[in-house]
Amino acid sequence: MRLILLGPPGAGKGTQAELLCDKFNLVHISTGDILRDEVVDGSQLGQQVAKFLQSGELVPDDVVVAVVMKRLAKPDTQKGFILDGFPRTLPQAEALNAGLEKLNLPIELVIYFKTKPEVSLMRLGGRRVCNKCNVNFHLVNRPPKKDNICDFCGGTLNIRQDDQEATVKKRLNIYQNQTHGLIEYYKKTGKLKEVSGDLPAEQVLVQLTEIFSRENLIASR
Ligand code: AP5
Repeated sequence: MRLILLGPPGAGKGTQAELLCDKFNLVHISTGDILRDEVVDGSQLGQQVAKFLQSGELVPDDVVVAVVMKRLAKPDTQKGFILDGFPRTLPQAEALNAGLEKLNLPIELVIYFKTKPEVSLMRLGGRRVCNKCNVNFHLVNRPPKKDNICDFCGGTLNIRQDDQEATVKKRLNIYQNQTHGLIEYYKKTGKLKEVSGDLPAEQVLVQLTEIFSRENLIASR
């Protein structure tokens, strides 16, 4: 299975990517996670991209394309992968096509998480992220068992730097202006499928599983 998850910030792309990767043994490629790790490591790339992540702006296309193509070229992607948060612009989508053609790993489906802006705002306003294992919690939708403590590793839960309300609004605008157009682009390829990102996570997973079944990516139940 080779998938792209497309949708606004807070649509639940990362949450579903984790669930799907566990369920179907796929590689999760999240550009946001890769770039944040580089910032934490203080690498040259991290220093180059830190200001974009903090302000909610997109990292330049050439930088992010190079990161993704390097990751896709690793042998583990042969078993299938999910691209979460990439591509986000037309030049990124075109570079991805060309790169995957060379690797002989064509995308099978592009899933669009249709989500209302007020849902994104509510979700990102309540998101808390573990500082050790990076698992996402939500104060209302997925509260940790103990306040501010990760259920899985005991790490501390923090607010993501770009989840301040003003930055989320900016990210939603950037999504609308630079990324949303990719829906038309992928519609033309016949690979675009839509789910309602507004629904609870378990219901989104059911929608996704039904799509995979209809598309013969998994055996019908
Ligand atoms: P990135 O990390 O990709 O941010 P994003 O796309 O804005 O994604 P989010 O993590 O905010 O949302 P999500 O849809 O994954 O939702 P999640 O499942 O986490 O990118 C960050 C930055 O990196 C960018 O701003 C940019 O600077 C840079 N960048 C990354 N990719 C780039 C690219 N290709 N080009 C250029 N720059 C790039 O869920 C959010 C919350 O909601 C969680 O608390 C979760 O528990 C909760 N939740 C999830 N699903 C549900 C549900 N169904 N019901 C209830 N609650 C839910």
